[in-house]
Amino acid sequence: ERVEPFTLFFRKPPVLSPVRSDATTDYYRLTMQRATVEILPGLNTEIWGYNGIFPGPTIKQRRNRQSIVRYINNIGKPMSVHLHGMASQPQYDGYAEDLIPHRYYKDYIYPNNTAATLWYHDHALGKTSLNVYMGMAGMYIVQDENELSLPLPKDNYDIPLIIHDKKFASDGSQVFDDQAQHGLMGDVITVNGVPWPRMEVANRKYRFRILNASVSRSYKLALSTGDNLTVIGTDAGLLSAPVSTKDMRIGMAERYELLIDFSKYSLGTQIVLQNLGPANNDNFGNTDKIMRFDVVRQESDDSSIPSTLRNIQFLPESSAVRSRDFTFQQNNRLWVINGNGWNRNRVDANPQLEEVEIWRLHNNSGLWFHPVHLHLIDAQILDRNGQPPLPYERGLKDVFYVGENETVRVIGKFRPNIGKYMYHCHNMVHEDHDMMSQFKVGSGGI
Ligand code: C2O
Ligand code: CU
Repeated sequence: ERVEPFTLFFRKPPVLSPVRSDATTDYYRLTMQRATVEILPGLNTEIWGYNGIFPGPTIKQRRNRQSIVRYINNIGKPMSVHLHGMASQPQYDGYAEDLIPHRYYKDYIYPNNTAATLWYHDHALGKTSLNVYMGMAGMYIVQDENELSLPLPKDNYDIPLIIHDKKFASDGSQVFDDQAQHGLMGDVITVNGVPWPRMEVANRKYRFRILNASVSRSYKLALSTGDNLTVIGTDAGLLSAPVSTKDMRIGMAERYELLIDFSKYSLGTQIVLQNLGPANNDNFGNTDKIMRFDVVRQESDDSSIPSTLRNIQFLPESSAVRSRDFTFQQNNRLWVINGNGWNRNRVDANPQLEEVEIWRLHNNSGLWFHPVHLHLIDAQILDRNGQPPLPYERGLKDVFYVGENETVRVIGKFRPNIGKYMYHCHNMVHEDHDMMSQFKVGSGGI
């Protein structure tokens, strides 16, 4: 092994400061560029990153304050940026064919109308897996008054964990297999860009915002102590109440927020965040581990876990005006939805603004699961093969884990914008070849 797990120090991505602010808006600037960094000790690795780092800087914003982000493209090829989870207008949504040419920039306007843990990442047509693999991803956090008024751990105790697996050649360069058809999985698990880091923690509660930014690997998270994890949030914000669970699976692009209380451990305790599966991933020597928490400090803790986090208005099934079926399957060497691949003129659904629909997502592709992502809307899982969703999935989400031979029913209201938006599998290898299509909200019908 070129790096022993838990020998490198944990770090957080830096928080990006606005270049200026006015009464309504914060203005940010991010340059997409190549950089040489040390990921494996003593070796140089070329990455592509926002401001030349992986993960990119974290953007932190207040709900209902607007952000305008200028993305400057110095990568050497066309790029597109999607802010995953934001209800952006279509022209700012990072449409796969809306490419920023090399040496150009584009200003993206984000309304920040919902408090949640989002992420920005490349979305260039057919190149998303390569670009995200090389490092084009960062976290974007929106907070509102309700969240800030809760007694949850804050500031230095509110920590992003961006999980991403990589494969390296012996010279340290990243290995990207563009012939990979099913998925791309590395043997090195990084958290915030560091292989299997160890984080020194105080004996108190922490909040972790977990993002699976891997191209194709899903994880089942658990603590080596066997203690429970407390889930407080999903893709689109806080759950209505905390959920306690022994383990938790997270597909690509999903976000879950966890609380871990280290106060029950004596100083010196080491707790591994493990990956228990799933078994059909490509598993290597250390892909069953993610990072380690070392309890090293005594600290007082004024945070607590409220029994109610927020009030979510769930949509009753009776509010849906129609149901639609989407089958995710393999067709020769392509991944397809309802038999077809990407076509910019293809529109599979045309709900009116504010209409509620049920989408039945069917997975007929053997061993592969599909984390299905809908742009624009936050929705909720009604059931999976007729069974209720997992307790920690019962919040608002924008990625839906559709397991092998499963049908997942999702209900959502098509708002707040009209226009054409993408939906796709977030296994980025599937997405690139060609499991991606579109829906259009407003004007027209059905
Ligand atoms: Cu996270 Cu269409 O993407
Ligand atoms: Cu897929």
